[in-house]
Amino acid sequence: MAAREMFRHPEAGMKPVVFLDDDKSKQGQKFLGIPVAGPIEDMNVTTVRGVEIPTIGLGTWRLTGEQCRNTVRTALELGYRHIDTAQEYRNERQIGSALRDMAVDRESIFLTTKLGHRNRGYDDVRRSTEESLAKLSTDYVDLLLIHWPNIRTPLRETLAAMNELVDEGKVRHIGVSNFDLDRLARARELSEHDLVTNQVQYNPYWSQTDVLDYCRIHDLALTAYSPLAHGGVLNDPILTDIGERYEKTAAQVTLRWLVQQPNVLTVPKATSREHLAENLDVFDFELTDEEMDRIYRPSKSRALAGFVTGRLQRLTDDCPFKPRTR
Ligand SMILES: NC(=O)c1ccc[n+]([C@@H]2O[C@H](COP(=O)([O-])OP(=O)(O)OC[C@H]3O[C@@H](n4cnc5c(N)ncnc54)[C@H](OP(=O)(O)O)[C@@H]3O)[C@@H](O)[C@H]2O)c1
Repeated sequence: MAAREMFRHPEAGMKPVVFLDDDKSKQGQKFLGIPVAGPIEDMNVTTVRGVEIPTIGLGTWRLTGEQCRNTVRTALELGYRHIDTAQEYRNERQIGSALRDMAVDRESIFLTTKLGHRNRGYDDVRRSTEESLAKLSTDYVDLLLIHWPNIRTPLRETLAAMNELVDEGKVRHIGVSNFDLDRLARARELSEHDLVTNQVQYNPYWSQTDVLDYCRIHDLALTAYSPLAHGGVLNDPILTDIGERYEKTAAQVTLRWLVQQPNVLTVPKATSREHLAENLDVFDFELTDEEMDRIYRPSKSRALAGFVTGRLQRLTDDCPFKPRTR
């Protein structure tokens, strides 16, 4: 067991921070000895089918290159223990590199990747997963998902290969993403190992009532992607108003709304240290039933408007001519 030195990280609230002095160089890995926040037990965890998954993970879609590596390192420092990537995000190598840099036990990380659209045939599932493992610098991923349904390859074939990877210890658990209820039920029938999640878009503007009911009945997790509607919820007046009561931001109210629902996990994407820290800091307040209802306003037009607002906000933030505020 690695020796541990306890100290507190100022941005991790009152959560104890653990410094692991494992000698990663023994495993041929570059080890920078960067302190990281506490082990998995300290994080809020959701359990489905006996599997413990940190309730909030880091989404990494559109994070690439050095920015991805730095963001993952910062996230690990702050206490994130769940990272969501995909073969199609083209950032597995940078995530692997960040994991190697950090003083964090592989066992304490919950790492998810997803099969790319072309990698659904039996051989492609096996080959591409081996490639993902090499890029991620790990012997196994905690969760392998089918990223999107693909009607050209029989689901049975994809799942047979995924099940074999579980038997071989290269994948701990399997699941799906963007599956409707019929496909989800069929995938469960065809799989020898339990599916643990369906990762779908879910936020205050996007309804998932039927999928969530199904997940609760069958003890699966609904992993909410685009939880902040790509940034579209950030200026929502209802979320801001509720947030004022708890001294929380609209983003935090949204994430709290998600994780307060049984069987819901979420993987917000954030880049700045401030946003990353903020998104983990949602376990010290509780929304009332009335607030939970007020927040949920599913509507395709609101979702679209939120998406466009979020994109525009990002473009403005990135504009080099924007006046800088102090
Ligand atoms: N399975 C699938 O098909 C699928 C599809 C889409 C997404 N996903 C997963 O879900 C993850 C999240 O979804 P998403 O990337 O679409 O969007 P999202 O998490 O809904 O929103 C991300 C945006 O919100 C901003 N943000 C994050 N935290 C904030 C905070 N506390 N205050 C203010 N702004 C904040 C981010 O800005 P900064 O980056 O500047 O901090 C970014 O612009 C993805 O990264 C991916 O892992 C999966």
